[in-house]
Amino acid sequence: MIDLLIHDAAEVVTLSAAAVAEEAGAAASALPRRGPGQGALGRVRQGFVAVRGGRILGAGPMRSLPREWRRAREEVDARGRAVLPGFVDPHTHVVYAGDRMEEYVLRVGGASYEELARRGGGILATVEATRRASADELAEAARPRLGRMLAAGTTTAEVKSGYGLRLEDERKILETVRRLGREQPVELVPTFLGAHELPPEWRGRPGGEEAYAAEVAGPMLEAVVREGLARSVDVFLERGVFGRASARRVLEAGRAAGLLLRLHADQLSGEMGGAELAAELRVRAADHLEHASRAGLEAMAAAGVAAVLLPGATLLLGSPPAPARAMVELGVPVALGTDSNPGSSPLESQAVAMGLACALLRLTPAEALVAATLNAAWVLGLEGRLGSLEPGKQADLLLLEEPTYLAVPYRLGSNLVRAVWKAGRRVA
Ligand code: NIG
Ligand code: FE
Repeated sequence: MIDLLIHDAAEVVTLSAAAVAEEAGAAASALPRRGPGQGALGRVRQGFVAVRGGRILGAGPMRSLPREWRRAREEVDARGRAVLPGFVDPHTHVVYAGDRMEEYVLRVGGASYEELARRGGGILATVEATRRASADELAEAARPRLGRMLAAGTTTAEVKSGYGLRLEDERKILETVRRLGREQPVELVPTFLGAHELPPEWRGRPGGEEAYAAEVAGPMLEAVVREGLARSVDVFLERGVFGRASARRVLEAGRAAGLLLRLHADQLSGEMGGAELAAELRVRAADHLEHASRAGLEAMAAAGVAAVLLPGATLLLGSPPAPARAMVELGVPVALGTDSNPGSSPLESQAVAMGLACALLRLTPAEALVAATLNAAWVLGLEGRLGSLEPGKQADLLLLEEPTYLAVPYRLGSNLVRAVWKAGRRVA
């Protein structure tokens, strides 16, 4: 007897390497370490998924279901429904205190994000609230956000620090991420973003930006690594925030410490050449990229750097859409995230991110699904365990109310997730 059998599904989207290679032909083999050609899905009609010990035993057409898998402790009749891998959200900032709804009203009224930041709103407003909050208060604020993400199908999420901007408060955020990862079902992957904004106490000092970046790259990073608090390190590279020299310093220190590298690149302007720097430093992924140059994207493709698209922030800040089609055509692996944060993108649903990616960025629905699962797992270094329904991988599964994944971007804003399993256990 096996643990879980989902049977007779109208569609099982496996994203399995073998099936995808067959569908995508040369495109898939061109991206061997990053999984599939962006459009190929390994889609099975009338399918099953079998699970034992939290792992996938097999997924395929009902006619190939082995006899010994036909009885399970939990049997789910999936007629008329689709089964997908759980969503992986590779870019969030969900652990913070307070909210910025008043600022949202001002932005709707026409104020720009950078203007509000200059007036003491923006990231620094959240930094103030987060510094004041206790660890318990931070956890309490983040729990319902994670609950909504799970209900919308996210089974793994990256979470960045960056609202503390001094060691004690960055540590408080990252320890809260660790604690929340243990006490609720969404698996959390922590990223140290000490270089998210110049903290108030470093402002107005000549050379303050470089000096604070040295602090982040030095003692702060050392403590974070020593305490095992982060898997990746990220920097907000932007005019008026951190420049190239600071970003380089922090990311090189992160690499030396064994972390994966990420970069907020070319979001509000292209002045910093973020895509180019991401390629030069061979970071795992560069995120946002609304203003990335063609040369920068070509360099990313050549260096094997992934792009993380965040259409929630694009929409809510009124930014130009990131050049997603050019990325796909150049062979840049594309992932998709919510950027869930109190300012630029309070979005919590990867399903909505998929709908926005199709509508605003012209990803195909197939590309958007790969971006929100397998390629997102690759960005986090977890593609060996997560992101597709292949034998031996972790059984993180979604059952949809509709017969195909196409309904996810199509019914923009509806939650079609009927059931969620994390490592084979029903969690929503
Ligand atoms: O990814 N770009 C910088 N950081 C966030 C915004 C965070 C905030 O507004 O609090 C982003 O959009
Ligand atoms: Fe972000």
